[in-house]
Amino acid sequence: MEQKIAEIKERIEKEVAATKTSKILFELKVKYILGKTGEIPALMKELGKAPKEDRPKLGKVINELKEWATEAFANKESEISALERQARYEAEKIDITMPAKRGGEGSLHPVSVVKGQLIDIFAGMGFKVSETREIEDDFYNFTALNTPKEHPARDKQDTFYINDDLMLRTHTSPGQIHTLKTVEPPFKVLIPGRVYRADDDATHSPMFHQMEGLVIDKHITMCDLQGMLDVLVKKMFSEGAKTRFRPSFFPFTEPSVEVDVSCFECGGKGCKLCKGTGWIEILGGGIVNRKVIENCGLDPDKYTGFAFGLGLDRIAMLKYGINNIHILYEGDLRALKQFKE
Ligand code: DAH
Repeated sequence: MEQKIAEIKERIEKEVAATKTSKILFELKVKYILGKTGEIPALMKELGKAPKEDRPKLGKVINELKEWATEAFANKESEISALERQARYEAEKIDITMPAKRGGEGSLHPVSVVKGQLIDIFAGMGFKVSETREIEDDFYNFTALNTPKEHPARDKQDTFYINDDLMLRTHTSPGQIHTLKTVEPPFKVLIPGRVYRADDDATHSPMFHQMEGLVIDKHITMCDLQGMLDVLVKKMFSEGAKTRFRPSFFPFTEPSVEVDVSCFECGGKGCKLCKGTGWIEILGGGIVNRKVIENCGLDPDKYTGFAFGLGLDRIAMLKYGINNIHILYEGDLRALKQFKE
């Protein structure tokens, strides 16, 4: 039996020394010391069969073997786990100085691009930006803007009413009233924002964007509007762009005009974009109606002003050659990505 013990010890020594992984080491531990089937527990069982007088001595030797083996395994375990930890560190090492992988680059929505360009141009002329509310009441959206009760703009087919008095604003013009009622003239203000109308076809969407401009001071004339718009179209479209005023009607301006820009596609010769006319309509405007100034509690003999309103979606479509407004709102990145500044 002593020989067998020595032989087991020798085997453990050799096999443990040759082990490289904690998995195999554990298997050896099972084989030699764990459970009932391990070779060392088996020796203990065999002890019963040895002659009585040899048992104490043999028992001692077996116990020593067990202690020695337990320690040998423990040493090897810590050696292997240190190596394994080291190997894992090596494998998981990350180079934090390495440049990051770039995500796909986004781009501004065409309407945001146009809005940003216009704000830049107007800011250069001293305009401040003000965003007013999207839910309006009858007074701000219509009455104060001199839009009488029977006016077609009030038609329920055009306006999204919330109740008899409240509605989604149909234009950014109520922003004029908010400004006139709260800001001491003289001022120049731009009011960009969403507007809503029950209209839906290739060039109309129930939600779209406008930008209102309002200048209030003393002795403002149509020439001021014309001069400012000239600067605008040259910066926005091209140095050679010209403007043309056509008489029109809006309840809140008197006189009112519609403003065309010489076609930036053909330079005025006539093409598909300008439908052969050489001109493209870009906005409505005029001299602020006396009644509007009065409705806001100001003296129309003292203050005059001009106002204009333009469709941001329309300008984006003209600039980028988009023929269907819904392309702007379907959120198809393949389409939107093409319209970088
Ligand atoms: N509010 C008008 C519309 O939605 C646009 C407009 C025209 C605004 C003339 C103005 C203006 O300020 O003076 O069609």
